[in-house]
Amino acid sequence: MSTIEDLKTENLPRHLAIIMDGNGRWAKQRGKLRIFGHENGVNAVRKTVENCAKIGIDFLTLYAFSTENWKRPKLEVDTLMKLLVSTLKKELATLNKNNIRLNSIGNVQALPNKVYLELQEVMAKTKSNSGMTLTLALNYGSREEIKQAVRCLASKVKNNIISPESIDDTVINSHLYTHDLPDVDLLIRTSGERRISNFLLWQIAYAELYFVDAFWPDFSEEHLVSAILSYQNRERRFGKISEQLN
Ligand code: IPE
Ligand code: IPE
Ligand code: MG
Repeated sequence: MSTIEDLKTENLPRHLAIIMDGNGRWAKQRGKLRIFGHENGVNAVRKTVENCAKIGIDFLTLYAFSTENWKRPKLEVDTLMKLLVSTLKKELATLNKNNIRLNSIGNVQALPNKVYLELQEVMAKTKSNSGMTLTLALNYGSREEIKQAVRCLASKVKNNIISPESIDDTVINSHLYTHDLPDVDLLIRTSGERRISNFLLWQIAYAELYFVDAFWPDFSEEHLVSAILSYQNRERRFGKISEQLN
């Protein structure tokens, strides 16, 4: 079994993003309601966050609720929102203990007020932490993010604040929710699905992808380490050829 100690510290993904999928199926396998899976998913979040901080990951981004997830049954959405509030409350101390700064991406203002306020509070109370940045993607959709960036840029051009020629990668980046995050190096998705589901489309342009069959509540230190070991054994060429890299 691989453990954190097996990882080379010099070639870690700087930004790790995870699509935490499979809570519902995990619960169904046990003859329980989907929400039981979400409750158990929280334990995997806690373990993964602590392990990533221990490994020395600088940026961890977790996909927790998508713009499409509102389409789920109301009871599931409501319970997920309640779970978010209680988890944020409970985890504040752990975040501070581990020197982790909480950040969020997505249209968070449109979340239920209780969730929004709790999120703001935990972000404010962890903002001076200098270790890992933990970003929660909440009411996040990559198309929505790109749409609002394009709208903002279009209006700046219309009002002669910027010229169309000045719109480059850096300018586009600075209009995304992720403006203060580096590009994703490694993207993990659990549950065996091999799709992106509207997550960080711009930011994963050159990310390494890693798919795990385990459902999210079962995602363990071993899975995490295996994903990073796989990342460390890959050659990231960014369009070049092997011989050009050193
Ligand atoms: C991921 O698990 C958690 C959220 C999307 C909130 P799912 O709830 O999607 O579980 P499955 O994929 O239906 O098993
Ligand atoms: C993606 O999972 C969203 C989150 C993990 C929050 P979904 O379960 O919503 O994705 P699809 O619908 O299976 O693509
Ligand atoms: Mg799912």
